[in-house]
Amino acid sequence: MKNVGIVSVGKYVPQRVVTNFDLEKLVETSNAWIVGRTGIHERRIAEKHERSSHMAVHAAREALKNAKLDAHKVELIIVATTTPDSAFPSVGCLVQKALSNKIAAAFDVSAACSGYLYSLTTAKKFIETGMYKNALVIATDKFTTLLDWNDRQTCVLFGDGAGACVLAPVRGKRGILSDFLLAHGEFAPLMMVHAQDREPLSQKDIHVRAPYVTMRGPELFKIAVNSMSDAVAISVERAGLKVEDIDVVVPHQANDRIISAVAKKLRIPKEKFFINIEKYGNMSAAAIAVALYEAVEQKRIKRDSNVALVTFGAGLVSAANVVRW
Ligand code: ACO
Repeated sequence: MKNVGIVSVGKYVPQRVVTNFDLEKLVETSNAWIVGRTGIHERRIAEKHERSSHMAVHAAREALKNAKLDAHKVELIIVATTTPDSAFPSVGCLVQKALSNKIAAAFDVSAACSGYLYSLTTAKKFIETGMYKNALVIATDKFTTLLDWNDRQTCVLFGDGAGACVLAPVRGKRGILSDFLLAHGEFAPLMMVHAQDREPLSQKDIHVRAPYVTMRGPELFKIAVNSMSDAVAISVERAGLKVEDIDVVVPHQANDRIISAVAKKLRIPKEKFFINIEKYGNMSAAAIAVALYEAVEQKRIKRDSNVALVTFGAGLVSAANVVRW
């Protein structure tokens, strides 16, 4: 089995910044409530032309440039998204086309906020076994298209963006040391986008609105804290390390208070957690990909750092990886 590492990262966030003060004009909320309950100050909202594939291609190009990998030589493209441009083709195929790549396998992974780590682990397995020499893993979500802008309980939480990385074999005791993936389908009703029934249009359905996210936040909060803490503990053990050995934790950015509770439960100082939720809110699958990018950019993650990536999302699904950078 080959050791597989994240050899480069890329990101794309839309230009348009929407602050909590902007949202005060839309729904009955306040900057103080949003900051105090979530840690979010602002988020990016994509324009119409900035579809999930568009953001994905930008993030991918940067990751490829940083890896010095020719786009034509990418062998596997996996895109984590729950907001594909359309039901099909997959965003993976759209990215492949944009990169003029002719040799890769390409597909999407649907695991909500956990999609990036689900994709990372999937891609790693393909390289580990020698089936592919490299992989481009992208997380892209235009989550704001799923929001009901009348629902203050959800619309203040999310933003849009994309992150990407290139995976390839690495030498020595480095790379992705362990994986953890788990699903709890029994909790699916806690966070859903109700699918429209594909039935003939009747008078009764004529006023039915497009499907939006519904979420039972306080119930999810508790499960998020437990799932993320367990995921870190298990993946650290699988990596043959102790929690004290972890230098940086890059967690899913759903709520700063969730991150504080995970830090406390794991007895890892909160300073070791990389947090950028104040700038972006929850970008679903892209949140952890963009956070990883910025942690590397800000040199919080350096060569040989032990990094724990951990996430949690609708499904419910949780995931974690330990990486020696
Ligand atoms: N502005 C002002 N008041 C608000 C707002 C708002 N935007 N939203 C809710 N409130 C009110 C509520 O109506 C409630 O009022 P009441 O006490 O009069 O009934 C009060 O604030 C408290 O509401 P709670 O929902 O109990 O607030 P809580 O502290 O739990 O925070 C939140 C809500 C931020 C949603 C939190 O529960 C949370 O982060 N949950 C987890 C979310 C999550 O992890 N989701 C899954 C990942 S995302 C993915 O997979 C794509």
